[in-house]
Amino acid sequence: MERETVFTIDASNIKFGLGATREVGYDLKALGVRRVMVVIDPNLTESETATIALDALKAEGIEAVVYDQVRVEPTDVSFKAAIAFATEGKFDGYLAIGGGSTIDTAKAADLYATYPADFLEYVNAPVGKGTPVPGPLAPLVAIPTTAGTGSETTGVAIFDLSEMHAKTGISHRALRPRLGIVDPHNTRTLPRVAVACTGLDVFCHALESLTALPFDQREAPTHPGLRPAYQGANPISSMWAVKAAEIGAKYLVRATEDPEDLEARTQMILASTIAGVGFGSAGVTLPHGMSYPISGLVKDYRAEGYPQDHPLIPHGMAVSLGAPAAFRFMGPANPEAFLLAAKTIGVDTRDTGPDDAGELLAQAYTQLLKRLGLPNGLRAVGYTEADVDALVEGVLLQHRVTKLSPRPATAEDFRQMFLASMTLW
Ligand SMILES: [Fe+2]
Repeated sequence: MERETVFTIDASNIKFGLGATREVGYDLKALGVRRVMVVIDPNLTESETATIALDALKAEGIEAVVYDQVRVEPTDVSFKAAIAFATEGKFDGYLAIGGGSTIDTAKAADLYATYPADFLEYVNAPVGKGTPVPGPLAPLVAIPTTAGTGSETTGVAIFDLSEMHAKTGISHRALRPRLGIVDPHNTRTLPRVAVACTGLDVFCHALESLTALPFDQREAPTHPGLRPAYQGANPISSMWAVKAAEIGAKYLVRATEDPEDLEARTQMILASTIAGVGFGSAGVTLPHGMSYPISGLVKDYRAEGYPQDHPLIPHGMAVSLGAPAAFRFMGPANPEAFLLAAKTIGVDTRDTGPDDAGELLAQAYTQLLKRLGLPNGLRAVGYTEADVDALVEGVLLQHRVTKLSPRPATAEDFRQMFLASMTLW
């Protein structure tokens, strides 16, 4: 096998700070946009954030058409509805206001309106064809209102393929928003559980990208166009990951426990953006891979502070429930990176040998979940041992992320990890 020798960092354009939302009209105009599809979380249509953004568009003479049929944890069906709206509307730009679900919906709408194709054309293999996006998309500006997904910085759009009950996605660097406007003011109304879940997602982005298979252990692509967006850990992505994990370790508990703590919430959305740049290049690994069937196969679970009209295991929660088992499994393959990860989140690693690095990170992470009041394992969100076959089947489809595990996992390995995740403490 010929090893990879090259990596890329496609740094995102970010505008960060209190009041940055007011500048969105200027920013879209500067990108040449005259008629914009505003994709917005249905719970935010009446929000101050939406009002400020829409006023800013109006002030610059940009024609805005609101689309609010976004589903939290989107599906192919909800993506297709947005694509139809986008195709019909002949927009020359897109604005997303919401969490990862909203931003991902806008990415898909932009992609298929710009390069119409059968829906599975650009979807990641093996579920879809995985055809690379043919060229640049219309400008998309993203205004995140949660401090977690980092979707404003990545070229990935995640959805649930209804017929398979499996999460998959579209990933290509052309999907990365042209600009992310990260305004800490926009996360202040987030409920407690959502702050915890999105913050844990940030943590996993940082810890997984830091400990991912190093880029130079991947097989080299046969053509530069085939180099994946998620390339494995590299020296530059790791700098972003370390910084994000350090900030998260300092502020996540504070941000969750006190909604009025503007400093902590500001720091968490900053950490989210910083982590996004790192994992946008390095990728994520087994906790994210396992999270997709955990979310996709949900039965009746409904999380406090989230929409109650359909069962839902929030993304950051799903990622976190499998993370301790995944860290234990992956640790021995890259002990140095796991020790660094543990140290970064404030664990005393002085007496730890390389063999214990994964275990140490798993224990520290479990303590954090307990402290933040997360459900105690998969059983607490409705799963039993009888579901493990289906969960394993689901994770085996997540090749795009699981192949970046520093330690390759077989179906049996995944089975053991899901079983170990039934009860965490
Ligand atoms: Fe995530």
